[in-house]
Amino acid sequence: MSDTIYPVPANWAKTALIDEARYHAMYHRSVDDPEGFWREEAQRIDWIRPFSRVKETSFDEKDFGIAWFSDGTLNLAANCLDRHLAERGGDIAILWEPDDPATPDRRITYRELHADVCRLANVLKDAGVRRGERVTLYLPMIPEAAVAMLACARIGAIHSIVFAGFSPDALAGRITDCDSRVVLTADEGLRGGRKVPLKANVDAALKECPGVDTVLMLRHTGADVPMVEGRDIDWRTAVAEQSAECAPEEMNAEDPLFILYTSGSTGKPKGVLHTTGGYAVWASMTHQYVFDYRPGQIYWCAADIGWVTGHSYVVYGPLMNGATTVMFEGVPNWPDPSRFWQIVDKYAVEAFYGAPTALRALMREGDDWVKKTSRKSLRVLGSVGEPINPEAWQWYYKVIGEERCPIVDTWWQTETGGTMITPLPGATPLKPGSATRPMFGVQPRLVDNDGTPIEGAGEGCLVITDSWPGQMRTVWGDHERFFQTYFTTFPGVYFTGDGCRRDTDGYYWITGRIDDVINVSGHRMGTAEIESALVAHQKVAEAAVVGMPHAIKGQGIYAYVTLNSEVEPSEDLRRELVKWVRQEIGPIATPDVIQFAPGLPKTRSGKIMRRILRKIAENDVGNLGDTSTLADPSVVDHLLENRPQPE
Ligand code: WTA
Repeated sequence: MSDTIYPVPANWAKTALIDEARYHAMYHRSVDDPEGFWREEAQRIDWIRPFSRVKETSFDEKDFGIAWFSDGTLNLAANCLDRHLAERGGDIAILWEPDDPATPDRRITYRELHADVCRLANVLKDAGVRRGERVTLYLPMIPEAAVAMLACARIGAIHSIVFAGFSPDALAGRITDCDSRVVLTADEGLRGGRKVPLKANVDAALKECPGVDTVLMLRHTGADVPMVEGRDIDWRTAVAEQSAECAPEEMNAEDPLFILYTSGSTGKPKGVLHTTGGYAVWASMTHQYVFDYRPGQIYWCAADIGWVTGHSYVVYGPLMNGATTVMFEGVPNWPDPSRFWQIVDKYAVEAFYGAPTALRALMREGDDWVKKTSRKSLRVLGSVGEPINPEAWQWYYKVIGEERCPIVDTWWQTETGGTMITPLPGATPLKPGSATRPMFGVQPRLVDNDGTPIEGAGEGCLVITDSWPGQMRTVWGDHERFFQTYFTTFPGVYFTGDGCRRDTDGYYWITGRIDDVINVSGHRMGTAEIESALVAHQKVAEAAVVGMPHAIKGQGIYAYVTLNSEVEPSEDLRRELVKWVRQEIGPIATPDVIQFAPGLPKTRSGKIMRRILRKIAENDVGNLGDTSTLADPSVVDHLLENRPQPE
């Protein structure tokens, strides 16, 4: 890990919203006087009824609970739209860049977006959608995805976005878990010139979801898709008949805003639930400070709305701040690896926020693709989703930003609602690979496996000792699971699942997940999910999945598979299983390596020793540690001898 320090550039220190001295002053106030700090910071929101209570939180079992601004009321769509209309109605809210550069782009003003949101909100109301009802969105990266989110927020419905790369099965599971009656989708998505059959996937998913009675279908590519009589509604026809006015619902600060499913270490994906008031404060504050955002600047977060980054930093954060937010339908390397930087030039993007996996893939294509673009509009570069390795950091800094743009390496999680440990461009001297220092109100602590705090420099498990406004409030339908997952490993604090090092300057370096979650291209996958997909195949008896180092994806998926006794391993079967997992979960879960094994290393009590499987997958086989508790140590020799060569 690199310890070179990049000081804050002088022009940044002078002009930024927050410089170093201000950061320290604000940080200290935020933890010493949270009531006062958040009472003021929350004024950035237009409240319908102002709150009097600020922070009512406890992580202890006896009085566990998390509430912020709990007697205030607001509407988040109104905060993203209505309040900008008087002064900024004609400003562009969304700049939409299509997958194919030859397709016309779209520029949508705040006034137009407001009207679109109201029309769709009225359609939803006509379909009987009520406050608190869950609406599932399965949509490509098109402006209507943002319109759909905001329409739900406007009428107080809870949106649950399912990433458009997930399979029909994964979609069905998420629809069923939150009991959605209404699904919003499009005929097809487009990514890198390839079509994604969204409507067909919905049709397949709904075979398992008898509760869905309404599908709103947007014609995007114009593909000929079958419409089910009485269930499917043509989106554009429906909105055309509606009024462009729809009064926003007055929501309580603690009313749910959205559910987003994310992988955990055990069982099925969890429905992470965020509420309205605290999330609003957190998303808008972090977006403003982390990107030093001023109205009128062009801002682009390249994440998909199917992930939390898209929720907080493509849609809610930027729109609350009156930003012009770029929405890109496509992929970084199509038609060619200049695509990202051409978009930066086309719209004069000032802040760009992307993922290390994309940077590593582009870095491999060479600097020429970058150098033929100007990028002179860029002021700040962001990174999110996984640790950025110092090599990729340097490339981002030197080649993309030409040593002019601070890099904000933002650590956070679906559960945290917004950035938690991150540099601020005008305040934080940078160290490549470090997420640096905590955001206001965030109190990180490192603990050893027994929960004993580690003071000063050291390495351990990362926990957060007190609540912040953007924190998730529960797991949908399973509050006990929420408490068990995050607050029992280390009682009294929030456990992140990440390992972390703190250096002598107090900088934080995230070292990666320490639970059974792997991070593939910045996407969280539970190993248990992939294992159950494999075991669902009729020829598979048992499976164990671990992460392995991967040059582009960060981590790849390594699966150990034991076949049923009459089945012989073969290359064909290997391919069949890869295809099977893609079908069951989606392409992001594609195993990189499948190793057939007659047996898995188990303790005498039957527990799979994942430590050994991880070491073999990492090719770190010199010291496998103590194997004496294994029921059959010869299993390990077989695994070592038959290790496949990764492609
Ligand atoms: C990892 C994405 C290091 C981490 C916003 C976390 C990171 C998980 C960083 C959450 C970063 C995210 N440096 N690791 N800057 N950002 N992570 O829920 O392991 O999709 O726990 O949220 O990604 O992934 P999630």
